[in-house]
Amino acid sequence: MDNPHGDQRTRFVVLASGTGTLLQSLLNAAADPGFPAQIVAVGADVDDAMALDRAAQVGVPTFVVPVSDYATRSDWDQALTSAIDQWNPDWIFCAGFMRILGSATLTKYAGRIINTHPALLPSFPGAHAVRDALGYGVRVTGCTMHLIDEGVDTGPIIAQSPVHVDASDDESSLHERIKMAERSLAVGTIAAIASRGCVVDGRRAYIP
Ligand code: GAR
Repeated sequence: MDNPHGDQRTRFVVLASGTGTLLQSLLNAAADPGFPAQIVAVGADVDDAMALDRAAQVGVPTFVVPVSDYATRSDWDQALTSAIDQWNPDWIFCAGFMRILGSATLTKYAGRIINTHPALLPSFPGAHAVRDALGYGVRVTGCTMHLIDEGVDTGPIIAQSPVHVDASDDESSLHERIKMAERSLAVGTIAAIASRGCVVDGRRAYIP
């Protein structure tokens, strides 16, 4: 439901592709009216994303824009932007959205799209960050909240949390510990941005 009680809080659309545990943390936080952000809608690129069920369970509207429904990537990009526009968000948060956003979305929401990534960028960008970090043999990895630009995981970094790699870790156990750090980093960062915005100065992004 949109704005059920004249909700004046900062408006976020969350995009997700998977199980949506990060989204769940945000939904839980936003259930407190004192939390400065509201989730006005959740969008996905696949109709079986568990994130959609999590949103629906608490009455947050959902939309799905599958790439396969469109003749070109550009058509998909336009459709996704239009779907997001319906919700008039102040910010977009990609919480496990496994698609590269196109130029329509990036232009319309320039400087207002946040991603969370399961590694300490600029190390291990891309879709297999946890596997890549483990394969490289790093002893510390973590998670990064950053603004999205036209590159893949290259935008200015807003916040990071480190996570130690254990000798016994496999991709699944390490990703689960990263996601524990990621959930609290995401909730704290979204709250701070909702309250105070985010300033970009070259490569540096900070919350004033
Ligand atoms: C998170 O670890 C997020 O950083 C990652 O997907 C996971 C989503 O978890 N995103 C990416 O890898 C984007 N390249 P969840 O579905 O449990 O919220």
